[in-house]
Amino acid sequence: MSLKHYLQFSDLTADEYAYLFERAALIKKKFKAYDKHQTLTDRTLAMIFEKASTRTRVSFEAGMYQLGGSVVHLTTGDSQLGRAEPIEDSARVISRMVDLVMIRTYEQTKIERFAEHSRVPVINGLTNEFHPCQILADIFTFIEHRGSIRGKTVAWVGDGNNMANTWLQAAELLGFTVHLSTPSGYEVDQAVAGVRSHDAYKVFKDPMQACEGADLVTTDVWTSMGFEAENEARKAAFADWCVDTEMMRVARPDALFMHCLPAHRGEEVQADVIDGPQSVVWDEAENRLHVQKALMEYLLLGRIQ
Ligand code: CP
Repeated sequence: MSLKHYLQFSDLTADEYAYLFERAALIKKKFKAYDKHQTLTDRTLAMIFEKASTRTRVSFEAGMYQLGGSVVHLTTGDSQLGRAEPIEDSARVISRMVDLVMIRTYEQTKIERFAEHSRVPVINGLTNEFHPCQILADIFTFIEHRGSIRGKTVAWVGDGNNMANTWLQAAELLGFTVHLSTPSGYEVDQAVAGVRSHDAYKVFKDPMQACEGADLVTTDVWTSMGFEAENEARKAAFADWCVDTEMMRVARPDALFMHCLPAHRGEEVQADVIDGPQSVVWDEAENRLHVQKALMEYLLLGRIQ
């Protein structure tokens, strides 16, 4: 199989996503039944974290072991990555020793440079610009609860960040619409999001309007990792972008609520919403495990019949 990276959502086709969602469902079913699924025996995943993580680390690490492989965990603090070894050299070396690399870092250009010099597939575990593994899990979760996402409406309330960018790529590829509402100064930049046209999204000043008729309402923290210096300014700017029961009330009666976590109750979401009956955040978090197992398998082995 030719070398394939997963650096942003648009790196795979709609057809490949259909396969991955089906495969993730099978892998999840087997996991729940304690039925071994070890398609990556003796394969090694290197996980490089330049930012903190709970879900991404546990899901990739547990996932690789469950597939029969093993993992190497590297951080900036305990490797030469933090001592200015060029990213290209790190890529050349690490990719001679492992089968697959997952990176969580800052600029998208950094993971792209790594991938350019890697002999093995590279997966984006979050960059400032994109979080494709999270949206993979989110759409799988939507499908589990409501069926196909094609033709549906997703309301994004909050920061025009890596999650918002990735939702736009997914909408363009999989045929749904994103209603975006961000405070002034925190809008999505279409060029950064890497979408071709405005067709897959609509912009709303008022977050209530963005939620009207939505099938899914979703948000993220007001201050993403790497932007901590802006925290106080963001708290003031985002005060009206808290997903509350009123926003959920104007969405469809069967609308779901998602949040990639970690969440700050009382900031970007009311406790009544995230802990309420429409919230599927725990399924969403768990599904990181299942979709990423399907993804790792696919990048290394291709389609399995
Ligand atoms: N959603 C997510 O990526 O969680 P972590 O930051 O804990 O990995």
